[in-house]
Amino acid sequence: MLSARAARLKESATLKVFGAAKRMIAEGIDVINLSMGEPDYNTPEHIKEAAIQAIKANHTHYTVNRGILPLREAVAKRLKEDFNADYTPEQILVSSGAKQSLFNTIMALVDEGDEVLLPYPAWPTHPEAIGLAGGKVVALRTREKDDFKINARQLAAAITPKTKMILFSNPINPTGMVYSEDELTALVDVLKKHNIFILADEIYARMCYDGFKFRSLATFPEIKERVILVQGVSKAYAMTGWRIGFSCGPQAVIKAADKIQGHSTSNASSIAQYAALAAVSGPQDSLDEMLATYTKRRKYIMERFSAMPDISFAVPRGAFYLFPNVSAYFNEQYPDSTALAMYLLEKAHVAVVPGVGFGQEGYLRLSYAASMEQLAAACDRIEKALKELKG
Ligand SMILES: Cc1ncc(COP(=O)(O)O)c(C=O)c1O
Repeated sequence: MLSARAARLKESATLKVFGAAKRMIAEGIDVINLSMGEPDYNTPEHIKEAAIQAIKANHTHYTVNRGILPLREAVAKRLKEDFNADYTPEQILVSSGAKQSLFNTIMALVDEGDEVLLPYPAWPTHPEAIGLAGGKVVALRTREKDDFKINARQLAAAITPKTKMILFSNPINPTGMVYSEDELTALVDVLKKHNIFILADEIYARMCYDGFKFRSLATFPEIKERVILVQGVSKAYAMTGWRIGFSCGPQAVIKAADKIQGHSTSNASSIAQYAALAAVSGPQDSLDEMLATYTKRRKYIMERFSAMPDISFAVPRGAFYLFPNVSAYFNEQYPDSTALAMYLLEKAHVAVVPGVGFGQEGYLRLSYAASMEQLAAACDRIEKALKELKG
């Protein structure tokens, strides 16, 4: 009965743990949830106030499909200020979350049978969105000892006449890795020789630590005309529920994406657009505060996991995730990351995401977008449960 397209879609591997966690929480069990990919902060007051004012001013009608001009102007300004990326409002499409920005772009560029390069581990929506468009995912595997990053040689070897695009995330969910300018330059040296599109998912771009200097792929003139940059307000302004994302790129691609959006959801929520306008053009200090807190939490969780025997991890430089290698704890009863995540949920009452959900067995993803008290308790519980596992 279902379409082949729907039947092909993989159910999220995180669902098993998440579903069980929800049931336990409903039963009143004190589960610490480190499985979510969202800030634990609330949306800053001035942003909420802008939404209230938008309602009162009756900004409650359809807007232009692309998003209101003041928002697209403000996004262009912010991209210039933050990343030195040059875009005009005509090159920007406002969508209902970065997720829709990705979907629109993929639908606009990928045909049946086109190959799309995707570094792994990958955020689960990336391969599924490519698959929905009929594209073929070509996985670029990475290793912990290489900080889960691809290199120029590997990239060059993967490009074929059928390659249409690379979907490149930076910073990376789930590993928290961030490519340095030198690493990006080496990749750009390959990309500039091949006529393929580059879909740059930089949703975590403003969340880097240790003074790490983030460079956007949209600032390399050699490839700029083939880059579609995806950004949004979800992570940086704690606005996951408002659903506002942006795609920025060549006008022809943005126009096609705009058309696709026009026939699916039309404009993103008018009220949320006004809230996003306040976020992007208003004071940025709430982000600085969040980053200062994440910095402390990141240091703490890394210290705790470094002290646990037989666990290793690549030091994350961005986003808010730790991706530890826990394979030394696998045994007959708990032979993989899903089983170990279930064990930690049932035994330690801590919810984490199994690495296999991101195509990387042997690992767990923990979000440190949680309070210090929660993190401390979660680390205590995980440490104890793992110790018991080893007997
Ligand atoms: C890598 C990556 N891209 C995009 C998104 C989607 O962001 P949005 O909430 O704006 O749709 C997420 C959210 O988890 C993400 O992790």
